[in-house]
Amino acid sequence: MNVLVVGGAGYIGSHCVRQLQAAGHRPVVLDNLIFGHRQAVSSEVPFYECDLGDKHAVGQILRDEQIELVMHFAAFAFVGESVEEPLKYYENNVVATLRLLESMLEHGVKRFVFSSTCATFGEPDILPIVETTPQAPINPYGQTKLDVENILKSFAHAYGLSFAAFRYFNAAGAAEDGSIGEDHSPETHLIPLVIDAATGRRENIKIFGTDYPTPDGTCLRDYVHVDDLSRAHIAVFDQLKQPGASYFYNLGTGRPSSVREIIDAVESVTGLKVPVVEDARRAGDPAALYADSSKAQQELGWEMKYPDVKAIVETAWRWHQANPDGYLTQAAES
Ligand code: UFG
Repeated sequence: MNVLVVGGAGYIGSHCVRQLQAAGHRPVVLDNLIFGHRQAVSSEVPFYECDLGDKHAVGQILRDEQIELVMHFAAFAFVGESVEEPLKYYENNVVATLRLLESMLEHGVKRFVFSSTCATFGEPDILPIVETTPQAPINPYGQTKLDVENILKSFAHAYGLSFAAFRYFNAAGAAEDGSIGEDHSPETHLIPLVIDAATGRRENIKIFGTDYPTPDGTCLRDYVHVDDLSRAHIAVFDQLKQPGASYFYNLGTGRPSSVREIIDAVESVTGLKVPVVEDARRAGDPAALYADSSKAQQELGWEMKYPDVKAIVETAWRWHQANPDGYLTQAAES
């Protein structure tokens, strides 16, 4: 299929582009390169530097490239920033997404795969989180993703749009060959920060809270490999042939790791010591979040290649060793 990957130069989008190629599809990338990296997308893949809210340009791409399905990864995703600057988040994550959907409908493209998040659930009382767990986001970022989920439901009903929304837990790791990986600026995610502390690029890693009601006092999260996420997105394609179909899936390993366990995994994989500083809790961090992904496993035949967090960290380490400055390393070499 001809698939437009919106945000295809970003972390998860770029991995999905590679998985689409591996599965025999034809990805086309649209990215405004605010956070994406041009080097994350192979030169064989058609690339458009463009904003998803630019209806005219998007319409032209949909037509010229004969797009049959759109995958959308292009969101702002810093939780703290979303609290400080909600306008920016609603503008990009909701308003621009509406423009994208409008272009799709105008051009008769009615299959959509949406990158949602476990942040739509907020702090649920009962774990693991299943698809029917009540959604109550606790920050504007999670709210914008839930808003789009709701928009999609009404578009499926009114316009026959078929869609799947995937709620990821903690996307982590890098391509098996270490050629693409995680490179955010600023980086806020635990695994790359711990690797930087191990290699001395950062002075230390601060553990945000050691007094949570968890076995070792640090937060539990469900780290899931970015290529495993990508494969689920592709496995749903057949189900989207039915007009008006709507699907929601939680994607995580279901095996949570604590912050201390991540530090241990990085020490074990790298053979390096990680300097640790115990710090105060970060505002808005739930003690534990992990998924029940049995729906995706049963309905999509989703099988994880990396169910173990150490294997995920190994891929992140390989990427980091080959690209200590992230994509800047590749830019300097080319
Ligand atoms: N952490 C530290 N020190 C750090 C960074 C993180 O202790 O320097 C801890 C956090 O407190 C948290 C865990 O490591 O307990 C994971 O933190 P991340 O920032 O890597 O990820 P989050 O779980 O906060 O965020 C992820 C996604 C978001 C999504 C959120 C939903 O990255 O996009 O889950 O809660 F919104």
